[in-house]
Amino acid sequence: MLLQGRTAVVTGGTRGLGRAVARAMADAGAVVVAAARDVPEEPPDGDRRIVAVEADVTVPGSVEALMKTVGARYGGPHIVVANAGISRPGPVAGLSYEHWDAVVGTNLTGVFHTVRAAVPYLRDVVDGRIITVSSILGRRAVPGAAAYCASKAAVERFTEVCALELAADGITVNCLAPGFIDEGQGRALMADERLWPRLSAGLAAGRPGTGAEVGAAAVFLASAQSGYVNGAVLPVDGAVRW
Ligand SMILES: NC(=O)c1ccc[n+]([C@@H]2O[C@H](COP(=O)([O-])OP(=O)(O)OC[C@H]3O[C@@H](n4cnc5c(N)ncnc54)[C@H](OP(=O)(O)O)[C@@H]3O)[C@@H](O)[C@H]2O)c1
Repeated sequence: MLLQGRTAVVTGGTRGLGRAVARAMADAGAVVVAAARDVPEEPPDGDRRIVAVEADVTVPGSVEALMKTVGARYGGPHIVVANAGISRPGPVAGLSYEHWDAVVGTNLTGVFHTVRAAVPYLRDVVDGRIITVSSILGRRAVPGAAAYCASKAAVERFTEVCALELAADGITVNCLAPGFIDEGQGRALMADERLWPRLSAGLAAGRPGTGAEVGAAAVFLASAQSGYVNGAVLPVDGAVRW
């Protein structure tokens, strides 16, 4: 129970990879708040250890209200996972301004809003933890993913700066860089009969990752075990050859 007594906020924790991270943190003993725009009436997966709270990471006041609510109801937060992210594929020449703004506004600016709103609370607890989520596409270029790749590369640099600035407050800031995972957007890619054979050919592990494997890495970064790991970008991709 590495996270016993800790409160974790996972943005985008209602579905896909975020839900897998939320579940892993609940399994490790944390009280987990999954934040998203559409909050199911039933807890994610019927898992009553995970509480869903409505928040939109593109709206600063919404994330500030989220942190305030979590602090008042559950204490902390001690752990904040800035996971909410979207993808709007398309070649640069035809990419709409709306799609560019939506991707950068959620994946990069949304992470900034989340971290900014969380810092005052994390400063008040012992061993505050921030985990951002980039992607294998933060380091590798793929045609048709300009906005996504750019936003994820920027999240990695943002993470490193935050780590330097917040270390003196006892807060670590690390980034998970998942490869192709059998959850959420990754699962949707696997259903693409044109793309998936090409992408999967590069997977050294011979298979996509699981949500539990990303969840385990998140628990490590959230726990006391990772106390001297700061500013790291941790790939969880099984090694990829392209
Ligand atoms: N799955 C993969 O293979 C993979 C690989 C690498 C990286 N990633 C990254 O992992 C993260 C999660 O991806 P996923 O595959 O799980 O995606 P997903 O299944 O589409 O889930 C996205 C989650 O983010 C929430 N969200 C989206 N926009 C939001 C906003 N403005 N405010 C608050 N919540 C918002 C969604 O809920 P609402 O729509 O209700 O708000 C949902 O809970 C993303 O950052 C993604 O880039 C995923």
